[in-house]
Amino acid sequence: MKNPSIKKWLYGLLSLLILFGATRLYYSITDDVRISHMTYQLPFQAPWQVPELTPEAHQQLAQVLNQKFHYIGKGAQSYAFASEDQQYVLKFFKFKHLKPNFLVKLIPSIPPFKAYKEQVIERKKRKLLSVFNGYDLAYHYNRQDSQLLYVHLLPTQNLHQQVTIIDKIGQEKIINLDDVVFLIQRKGDTLDTRLTQLLDQGQVPEAGKAIASIVKMYVSEYQKGLYDRDHGVMVNTGFVGDQPFHLDVGKFSQDDNMRHVQVYKKDLEHVVWKIDQWVKTHFPQYTAILTPFLALQYQQWTHEALDLNAIDPQRFQRKPRLF
Ligand SMILES: Nc1ncnc2c1ncn2[C@@H]1O[C@H](COP(=O)(O)OP(=O)(O)O)[C@@H](O)[C@H]1O
Ligand SMILES: [Mg+2]
Repeated sequence: MKNPSIKKWLYGLLSLLILFGATRLYYSITDDVRISHMTYQLPFQAPWQVPELTPEAHQQLAQVLNQKFHYIGKGAQSYAFASEDQQYVLKFFKFKHLKPNFLVKLIPSIPPFKAYKEQVIERKKRKLLSVFNGYDLAYHYNRQDSQLLYVHLLPTQNLHQQVTIIDKIGQEKIINLDDVVFLIQRKGDTLDTRLTQLLDQGQVPEAGKAIASIVKMYVSEYQKGLYDRDHGVMVNTGFVGDQPFHLDVGKFSQDDNMRHVQVYKKDLEHVVWKIDQWVKTHFPQYTAILTPFLALQYQQWTHEALDLNAIDPQRFQRKPRLF
């Protein structure tokens, strides 16, 4: 190659590509589980508190935490670890996505950029508040259905408890739990895992029972004025034994209007539609039975008929955000 400046460009481009590839590889191998992503000094007064523990509850918590926790997965907001006895899940929050990133800090605080910067910071704050409010709400008003043992939504100084976690690549890390935001929940199977197990074995009536109990749980939450803004029903709900539970309550919200069927029916329609879409994708051979079954579940709780095949998917599509 004769032109040295083209050569330089090509080397530069190649280095960038290698860096990009290595970063992607690092993320996919490790899921980027880092203690620094699990901590954050809130820049505002938190509206929630850490629940007081009785000495017995403290002892129970210490017993649960006296075992290692192995990484099982992540969602958009948290990292989840399962206890060695497979009974509990320890969840840490991914502040990486809940706090303004370094790029936002680089935006100059002068017009015309200032308003945009403030908007982004405000949006992150709202997101963080809504995730923690979701868990706070669930702990106080829906503890049974979310199988929560303890929520520690603020750093403290008096827990005096450590836990050993094993990350995705098998590395052990000791975490001082006073320093981090975490929660403990019973471990279960997600709805998609449970339905896959049942339908793989052709156990359609059992799958129907499982679906009916999840739908009933949603209605019992509406009746408490609670609902989930996240309609990822298949991975955010599941079962501990045969008991249905809401394992991800990071988008739980409270609205007393939801107690009324005329208000909750729209949310319920979204829920049954999601399950129906999953069946249609993964077990199309059972749609002839399960689609009418889902419509019947809807009808039972709303006294209105529903034609799931006639729903326009655009109805449930989220509006794109400008920023
Ligand atoms: N209690 C639990 N039992 C079993 N698996 C769980 C539990 N909690 C979380 N998980 C697994 O970890 C994933 C991420 O947890 P989740 O609470 O949904 O986090 P996010 O709020 O980030 O979506 C879940 O989709 C599920 O696969
Ligand atoms: Mg989730």
